[in-house]
Amino acid sequence: MASPKEFIDKKLQQRQFDGNYRTLKAENGLIDFCSNDYLGFARSPALRKLIDEEINSFANTKNGATGSRLLSGNSMYTEETEQYIASLHGSESALIFNSGYDANLGLFSSLPQRGDTIILDELAHASIIDGARLSFANRYTFKHNDLTSLEDKLKLAKCICYVAIESVYSMDGDTPPITEIARLVEKYDANLIVDEAHAVGLYGFGLIDKDLQGKVFARVITFGKALGCHGAAVLGSNLLWQYLINFARSFIYTTALPPHAVASVKTAYQYLRKSGNEIEKLKSNIQLFKQSVVNNGYRLINSESAIQCLLLNSNEQAKAVAATLQNTGLDVRPILSPTVPTGSERIRICLHSFNTEQEITLLTDTINRFTDAE
Ligand SMILES: Cc1ncc(COP(=O)(O)O)c(C=O)c1O
Repeated sequence: MASPKEFIDKKLQQRQFDGNYRTLKAENGLIDFCSNDYLGFARSPALRKLIDEEINSFANTKNGATGSRLLSGNSMYTEETEQYIASLHGSESALIFNSGYDANLGLFSSLPQRGDTIILDELAHASIIDGARLSFANRYTFKHNDLTSLEDKLKLAKCICYVAIESVYSMDGDTPPITEIARLVEKYDANLIVDEAHAVGLYGFGLIDKDLQGKVFARVITFGKALGCHGAAVLGSNLLWQYLINFARSFIYTTALPPHAVASVKTAYQYLRKSGNEIEKLKSNIQLFKQSVVNNGYRLINSESAIQCLLLNSNEQAKAVAATLQNTGLDVRPILSPTVPTGSERIRICLHSFNTEQEITLLTDTINRFTDAE
């Protein structure tokens, strides 16, 4: 009988062979073009000071939540923070989860039932896919941002149908035609769920504005990206809030976020409301990058967001381009298959409000020189 060791060795060797063996890397002191800290909140001493003040000001001084939300881990402070987040996003309710992964897992695994239908954009985040897989619903994917393909799948839908999209795709940085998708979903009496993980920040409280809010069944927002802290929430109706605390297993069977994490989220939201300058700086850095980079045979994904991608052809090529950029002092990371489809391996470049003009010019000059030489 084969042993687990043999199995593990074989799988890891296969990874090495395929050129996609994963390793962990500690901070390297290079110029950050890869983190999701789009507005610099995670490194902001000013926000840190405000968070410290907030933590010191409230009565719950425990270091940990001490239990799940349904047992000892809940507090008035957490519920008030949820109401605050909900009001900022124009939602009836917000339910905090420990991470975006947990939020999508809990939502998609608990809501659709056997016989229902989940339709996912083919580039949906792994957490959406994993949640949908855990449900017993029928699952379909539609071609990325493609209305015809979505309609084809909507025609196949049975019982209650949920359609999942992202307002900014995590690995491509592009935005779907949300209004048209919402219209189509409404036409087929289906229910739209939008993951706004990478839209909150650059687009204030996200891309689901007042006009769209009535057409969206639920939203997922995360706090570990532009907000610079940790955790996530599902936005939706009060009824959905009650459903999820009863049925979402990734909410029920886990220790709640500690009080200081909730205080960080609340303070980061207050800070975001006053961060117009940072958002403008990020927007102008995105424009500077787009204007300066020459799309010389390398396919640049069309994106207006902080996520910009150079598409390459293989894991080896993505690693070679990343190494060239890293040797110039730029922290970019290759995104390899199977994280992205084979043949669309890439360098995922994240722009930030704190990147200087010189840093962006160094990045684009290096990309342009490199692509010239290829
Ligand atoms: C679109 C999207 N949804 C959800 C998540 C998961 O969020 P978190 O990192 O908070 O688990 C991510 C993060 O990678 C993401 O990109």
